[in-house]
Amino acid sequence: SERDSLYIVSDFASKHYQQLLHSHEEGAIGQSYLKERGLSNNTIKKFELGYSLDAWSDLTDAALKAGYKQKYLEATGLTIAKEDGKKYDRFRGRVMFPIHNISGRVIGFGARTLKSNDKKSPKYLNSPESEIYHKSNVLYGMYQARQAIRMQDNCYMVEGYLDVLSLHQGGIENVVASSGTSLTEGQIKLIARYTQNITVLYDGDAAGIKASLRGIDLILENGLNVNVVTFPPGEDPDSYIHKVGDEKFKAYVAKHAQDFISFKTSLYAEESKGNPVKKAEAIREIVTSISKIPDPIKRSVFFQSCSLIFDIDEQLLISEYNKMHLQER
Ligand code: GTP
Ligand code: MN
Ligand code: MN
Ligand code: MN
Ligand code: MN
Repeated sequence: SERDSLYIVSDFASKHYQQLLHSHEEGAIGQSYLKERGLSNNTIKKFELGYSLDAWSDLTDAALKAGYKQKYLEATGLTIAKEDGKKYDRFRGRVMFPIHNISGRVIGFGARTLKSNDKKSPKYLNSPESEIYHKSNVLYGMYQARQAIRMQDNCYMVEGYLDVLSLHQGGIENVVASSGTSLTEGQIKLIARYTQNITVLYDGDAAGIKASLRGIDLILENGLNVNVVTFPPGEDPDSYIHKVGDEKFKAYVAKHAQDFISFKTSLYAEESKGNPVKKAEAIREIVTSISKIPDPIKRSVFFQSCSLIFDIDEQLLISEYNKMHLQER
């Protein structure tokens, strides 16, 4: 079928990129980049990382020569055909991160430029949506993480490819990435097949944190438990685990994990200190998050801790909650 053809050509591309990384002379650039990023050969092999040549149509030429059809190369986005009929590769001169589905088949790629401050081309390029790659239902690293997620009964959510790789290498194997987009219901349902517990490891920048709050409400709505860990400003899980080492990283995460509602409540309480109008808004915002939690017992626990943090009567929060729900109906 068409789908099978897309799987097969994606697998060819993944093997081709791996071959280039390990055996082509230009692949040495990719190898040394990955070494600089602290990745071992083991991790590189386990995640099937590769390299795309800095050339116009290396992959396309190799695939056509091997008998793969151009229409499938285009349907996966590996080849881009211009109006004048010229064909070129989407991914050029980049480290390649194959994205697997839950049964381990390659369905797409993330690709990082090796240049550290090139404003002209994006840092990461990704495969477009295709018949086999539906971004909203995929999490990077899930194929390699799923058993550990089940065993640990927890899933770490990070932002990027390198975060997944570095944590995995450091012995934290129950980790997946949303790859920069905000979390979708499909991704949450995927995690929920393995565990009801998610720990979000944010990059240490305030803007990123604020932007992710909505996505996390979605996790609560689906009835999962959410903890969050934040890192010092400018650090992300990848940079931080390399800075402090595996053991200290694990201790940091254990020490700083806090449940999402308390985290959000403290964040808003801090921001609205001494400003009654802001405080009222903040409380409504928190009550909105709490109201997403389907389990009434959990809800009441959170009303308690919220009333402590804001130093307001719990009954007030509950009546706010009741008001909201009357409005909804
Ligand atoms: P490194 O710089 O390699 O450590 O990457 P990072 O993962 O730390 O990058 P960042 O925190 O900036 O972004 C997190 C994730 O968002 C990345 O892993 C990508 O999946 C995605 N992302 C970042 N930059 C881009 C971009 O320019 N284009 C696209 N499509 N995605 C991006
Ligand atoms: Mn490391
Ligand atoms: Mn970021
Ligand atoms: Mn990052
Ligand atoms: Mn990073």
